[in-house]
Amino acid sequence: MAYTQNPTSAKKAAFHRALQRWYETHGRHSLPWRNTSDAYAIYISEIMLQQTQVKTVLEHYYTPFLKAFPTLKKLAQADKQAVIKQWEGLGYYTRAANMHAAAKQCKGVLPETVEELQKLPGIGRNTANAIACFSYGQAVPIMEANVRRVLCRVFALTQADDKILWKKAEWLLDKKSSFNYNQAMMDIGALICKKLNPSCDTCPLSMICKGKISPVSYPAPKSSKATPIRHRIIVVLRDAKGGYYVRRRESRFLHGLYGFPEYAPDAKYIVYNNQKYPLKKTSIIGQIKQTYSHFTLQAIVHSLPVPMEKENAGDLYRATLKEMQTLPLSRADHKILGLFI
Ligand code: ADE
Repeated sequence: MAYTQNPTSAKKAAFHRALQRWYETHGRHSLPWRNTSDAYAIYISEIMLQQTQVKTVLEHYYTPFLKAFPTLKKLAQADKQAVIKQWEGLGYYTRAANMHAAAKQCKGVLPETVEELQKLPGIGRNTANAIACFSYGQAVPIMEANVRRVLCRVFALTQADDKILWKKAEWLLDKKSSFNYNQAMMDIGALICKKLNPSCDTCPLSMICKGKISPVSYPAPKSSKATPIRHRIIVVLRDAKGGYYVRRRESRFLHGLYGFPEYAPDAKYIVYNNQKYPLKKTSIIGQIKQTYSHFTLQAIVHSLPVPMEKENAGDLYRATLKEMQTLPLSRADHKILGLFI
């Protein structure tokens, strides 16, 4: 990979001026996490924005989350399940579990150095730098997904190598105005230096950009593999008193969410409380489809009447329909519930 030379310092200074001017006119100044210096609120926004679009975070999650857990101390005291319920629908649930664990670990007070911040679960260099810059005014660069792409293009890097990118990011940073610089770089990535069809003509980075002749070559596009289809049987175990039996996921994927038990598409029977139930004796109540980033779930949903258990049946938790509404559930499990209500 070519390790391209940096522009001259004079060019860098000219670019900083152009970027600041662009940000004054075109920046997304009204985003609420840009109008607070509360490190906790900034931390929440950064974690939410890691894998979720600004629009979704803004319209559905940021304000309600802060209302439910207004301080890091309140988050530390909260029940993990309540935190995950509040996160419901945002995906990548280990983010919520990590935030809860981090709040407990630092006893409700966020540290102020990048090094200390990075010792907390779920906080890497980018998030630590974002908190340090946006809340504590430290001159450190950030590198979320949009900025990575911008840097790859500015320096004509076909591969997004972390070590090289951080070096470039440190060098390019406007240390005198790091808050506006970092926010502007994200806005450029989101509004101008888009993955497809970037608008190089209006870009304030164009004066230093080595990739502008062929921007979509940087970073080199990954070969797009079709996501696989995962076929499953999902069984709604239901007793005569309106109890449903659900499992709490401990896995990384959909961490902490409850769900109806799932089986391989060729399963012949299921075991419930040490008893075998042939699947051909169950009734099919519908089908659901749910797309995730790395696969699509296609499931046939069966219903199976089972004897009532007092609270739990093995690793299955009993909940009435009303209780089910209070449990954190995946989108797929909400769809299954919808087949009943
Ligand atoms: N993604 C991560 N941090 C952000 C911010 N401050 N504004 C917009 N998008 C972001």
